[in-house]
Amino acid sequence: MALYSETVMDHFMNPRNVGSLEDADGVGRVGNAKCGDIMKMYLKIRDNVIEDVKFETFGCGSAIASSSMATEMVKGKTIDEALAVTNKDVVAALGGLPDYKLHCSVLAEESIKSAVKNYYDRNGIAYDPKDFPEEDEDSCRMV
Ligand code: FES
Repeated sequence: MALYSETVMDHFMNPRNVGSLEDADGVGRVGNAKCGDIMKMYLKIRDNVIEDVKFETFGCGSAIASSSMATEMVKGKTIDEALAVTNKDVVAALGGLPDYKLHCSVLAEESIKSAVKNYYDRNGIAYDPKDFPEEDEDSCRMV
C-alpha cells in the first residue's frame, strides 16, 4: 500500500482554500517549535456560519493536506459544527495518514479552534477555555 492515499496527495498537490482573508473575523495560529511547522487559519463568519475560510501552512505535506481538508470540512458549517471536527475526522476524510504523521492533523483541528477562540475574543463571546487546547509543543515530533 502506498504511504499516502490519493486524497492526501491530491490535497498536498492541489491544496484548497490557500491564502489569507484580509477581513477575517477570526484568525488562528498554531505551531510547533520542534518541527517548526506553523498553521494559520482565517475564518469569515456571518450569523454563526463559516462563510469563508483560508489557510497558510508552513510545514510538511501531511500538515498541508490536513489543513486543506479541514477547510473543506468547515466551510459553510456553523461554528459548533466546525468545533466538533476532530483531527480523527480529518484523517478519516483524507483516507488515513501514517501513524507517525497523525500529529500533523492535530494542527488542523487546533488551528480551527484557535481561529474560533480569536473570533470569540474579538466579539466578547464567553467560552470555556478548556474547550480550546493550549499549544502543546510535544504534539509534533521531528520525523
Ligand atoms: Fe510537524 Fe507534520 S506538522 S512534521
